[in-house]
Amino acid sequence: MLAKVVYMARKTTISLIKCDVGSLAGHHIVPKPLLNVGEKNLKKALEKGLINSYYVFNVGDDLQLLMVHERGEENPEIHKLAWDTFQEASKKALELKLYGAGQDLLKTAFSGNVRGMGPGVAEMEIEERGSDPIVVFAADKTSAGAFNFPLFRIFADPMNTAGLVIDPKMSGGFKFEVMDTLENKKVILKCPEEMYELLALIGTVQRYMVSRVWRANDDLICSVGSVTRLSLIAGKYVGKDDPVLIIRAQHGLPALGEVLVPFMHSYLVEGWMRGSHWGPIMPVSVKDAKCTVFDGPPRVVALGFQVSNSRIAADDDGKPMISDLFDDHAFDMARTEAVEYASMLRHMGEFEPARLGIEEMEYTTLPQILEKLKGRFEPA
Ligand code: F6R
Ligand code: MG
Ligand code: MG
Repeated sequence: MLAKVVYMARKTTISLIKCDVGSLAGHHIVPKPLLNVGEKNLKKALEKGLINSYYVFNVGDDLQLLMVHERGEENPEIHKLAWDTFQEASKKALELKLYGAGQDLLKTAFSGNVRGMGPGVAEMEIEERGSDPIVVFAADKTSAGAFNFPLFRIFADPMNTAGLVIDPKMSGGFKFEVMDTLENKKVILKCPEEMYELLALIGTVQRYMVSRVWRANDDLICSVGSVTRLSLIAGKYVGKDDPVLIIRAQHGLPALGEVLVPFMHSYLVEGWMRGSHWGPIMPVSVKDAKCTVFDGPPRVVALGFQVSNSRIAADDDGKPMISDLFDDHAFDMARTEAVEYASMLRHMGEFEPARLGIEEMEYTTLPQILEKLKGRFEPA
């Protein structure tokens, strides 16, 4: 007799925590010795049973720790694991005299949660469905507002996501939590009813950022992003926030292909070179996730996997099965567009709109230059 497969509703947490701990040849890539620190510590945590699965990777100069466990969001032990790993990797970076060692570790005393201390965090606790496909995105040389545009396309735009039109499970629409990062406030807006209000806010990508998305019918969580502004934590320019994002796909949610289609074209994001320029996003494989031209163009990576019984579904050798989603010719056009837009923007040099507007430049070194000239301004 065939055994009946029973799917248990168990709670699984996906944590993606990242940090710039120092990099090779400028703000370029995380070299192997630092990735090894991540690998060693997460392996140990796996053996101790703290986490059930992990995957260590880098996007440009950011060390990324992907962990799947059963301890919930904001768990002090998980956060300590990430914090200690970043500290150790920073120490290694310092020994090797790598560039910007410990760049994002803005605070020194750890008090149970890495949020607000420099590292970027996206965590999603879910009750596993019969099968739960997950996509994580990680970007370098930009900020969380960079995901506003694709998140709108994925969860609110019927011209992007056919399921909004065709799949009755999605017909109730989606709810977006939007953070006002300047005033530290948040609001929930429901689409399609409040689509215009949503766009009014999230079109301002520097200030308003989509932090969470739920399916409106049943409040099923389907997207969580890291929403921080390092400059507001540190009070001065300390690099961009280089965001991460977790999305759940399929079976009454946008299909994997609907999640990826916004990246068929490049679009402009803020945060290129010195966090002071607009730049075209370039979807790339992990292998190509290294910023070069003008410290960019800003790169984004997407990894696909399944969560299964609170772990990343693994192959016969127990190795997590991860698909490098942008490692595909379907994104060649976006990459070519990114190079073309990059060339156009760089042609403009330090003239707006290639450079960010004055408000954003306040969080760079521009105030120091204005200070120098202060005494020389006369009434006109
Ligand atoms: C870092 C970044 C880079 C640096 C730039 C100057 O996240 O975006 O573009 O801002 O390379 O770096 P420093 O001042 O360290 O020489
Ligand atoms: Mg750096
Ligand atoms: Mg970075």
